[in-house]
Amino acid sequence: MSIEARKSDHIKISLEKDVSFKKTTWLEYVELIHQAAPEIDPEDISTEVSFLGRRFSHPFIIESMTGGTAEAEKINGNLGEAAATFRIPMGVGSQRAGIVRPHTASTFRIARERGRDAFLIGNIGAAQLIENGVEIAFKAVKMIDADALAVHLNPLQELVQPDGKAKFRDLFKTISLLKKELSIPLILKEIGCGLSREVVVKGEEAGVDAFDVAGSGGTNWTLIEMFRAEESQAMDKKALAEVFLEWGIPTAASVLEAVSSTAKPVVASGGLRTGLDAAKALALGASMAGFARPVLKPATESEKQVVGKLMQLSTELRTAMYLVGCRTVEDLRKAPKVLLGPLHLWWNQRISHGSR
Ligand SMILES: Cc1cc2nc3c(=O)[nH]c(=O)nc-3n(C[C@H](O)[C@H](O)[C@H](O)COP(=O)(O)O)c2cc1C
Repeated sequence: MSIEARKSDHIKISLEKDVSFKKTTWLEYVELIHQAAPEIDPEDISTEVSFLGRRFSHPFIIESMTGGTAEAEKINGNLGEAAATFRIPMGVGSQRAGIVRPHTASTFRIARERGRDAFLIGNIGAAQLIENGVEIAFKAVKMIDADALAVHLNPLQELVQPDGKAKFRDLFKTISLLKKELSIPLILKEIGCGLSREVVVKGEEAGVDAFDVAGSGGTNWTLIEMFRAEESQAMDKKALAEVFLEWGIPTAASVLEAVSSTAKPVVASGGLRTGLDAAKALALGASMAGFARPVLKPATESEKQVVGKLMQLSTELRTAMYLVGCRTVEDLRKAPKVLLGPLHLWWNQRISHGSR
């Protein structure tokens, strides 16, 4: 199957089917403490943040999604323009398509053309980086004049994808090599199964500048690949995917794993659906909150629709900040909270005994 057909399947399935985990993000196990006397006015609240050397209007990121097809070009254009208008970072999808088939590079570059001076994050798969060498990363950066580069880890997707290749053996050696020559920040991200402490610690040693957990509870790539396997009659892959459908570290647990293992910025993503989800993730110590599928449908329509969705998320975040009495995002990151149930158990077993 061609890369174009695969990318087109991913968008179509994400838009038309319910592709969420049954398992949740576990953000429902984070209770922010209501402050009945906020002692600030709503107008005093500032959502501005610094991330990787730039100032942004909100602690939001439009997560890496697409490129390589005509529809992807429309999506990337709308997202790029919205990122510039709203002053937040935006990731493009895996750029392998644009490198292997240069005539599709424009479907990524459109984000720069319409996004003007937006902070754009390039994207390349770790497996492709290891297989082809670091030059492919420089091609990705050049293609969109990227301000940062994300390398994605997707071992489960590679195993259940009919045409996947699970080759991650020399990852950290390759990341170190890349980091030595890359002049922009390097982000290590998952795509929906979460990052563990072990991966974050090794990533930091290799020189990674920020981590995007992409935990489970939101878009489920094993499920998307299961639908594709079914469609292409790859019944062995479908059966494998079925067993691992709910595999992964819930987003709230993954944020705790990451922030307790590194002082580098951590992006919370995977199943964040409201500004309140973002507020909880930030209160766990994340620096930014990433959204993929919530902005996908608006991006198939217009830049205005994307900005509208971001405004709604902003109002929800500001409301949560007001109710916990936090004037700034830095205050929110230190806000009192209670961890409940399974998340508290996770904290006890994995984090409280072994912090940095
Ligand atoms: C349609 C779609 C395509 C995606 N493609 C990529 C990709 O090419 N590279 C990548 O690193 N992540 C990709 N992702 C994963 C997202 O960046 C994000 O980590 C994940 O979807 C979790 O966020 P969500 O639950 O808000 O969708 C994609 C997500 C969606 C929905």
